[in-house]
Amino acid sequence: MTRRVAVLISGAGSNMAALIEAGRVADAPFEVVLVLSNKPDAGGLALARAAGVEAVAVDHRPFGKDREAHERALDAVLTEAGVEVVALAGYMRLLTPWLVRRWEGRMINIHPSLLPLHPGLDTHVRALAAGDAEAGCTVHLVTEGVDEGPILGQARVPVVAGDTPEGLSQRVLAAEHMLYPQALADFCRTLA
Ligand code: GRF
Repeated sequence: MTRRVAVLISGAGSNMAALIEAGRVADAPFEVVLVLSNKPDAGGLALARAAGVEAVAVDHRPFGKDREAHERALDAVLTEAGVEVVALAGYMRLLTPWLVRRWEGRMINIHPSLLPLHPGLDTHVRALAAGDAEAGCTVHLVTEGVDEGPILGQARVPVVAGDTPEGLSQRVLAAEHMLYPQALADFCRTLA
């Protein structure tokens, strides 16, 4: 069974691109059918269109402080496209409980740290400041607590002498591109 996946982005969309590609190999258990961004200028939108995937921006700004209203607009696009699974990939908005409950058990996220270490922003700066021997990334189910949901997969990346946040983030991002497609495929195979 091929699950219809939407990827939510706010930026460059390199994880999104990895998911689109992985969904096109023979026997993939998912296909990326839609890319959604809250930022009309997100680089990933053009990348998705160039790859032949429908890409839609739903700008959050006209909704002001009403985050749920913005999410209802996003959700209408997801529903219209017959989406079954949502993959957050660099989607930089906090979700309201409404959207989390609406997609409970069908929404996953990638986070650039070895959760439960370093939830939130600036993970690589914090990993280096903490003197961590290794960094990495985590794919997890989305629940109401930020970066708190059950872990579906992790990849470890050693910290090297003289590491910088930029260097570490590039190596972790490369690991993300391997981990996310695999974790999404495994997850889709578990769905009833
Ligand atoms: C990734 O590091 C992801 O884990 C984080 O934001 C970054 C997005 O990069 N949440 P990209 O847009 O997938 O290139």
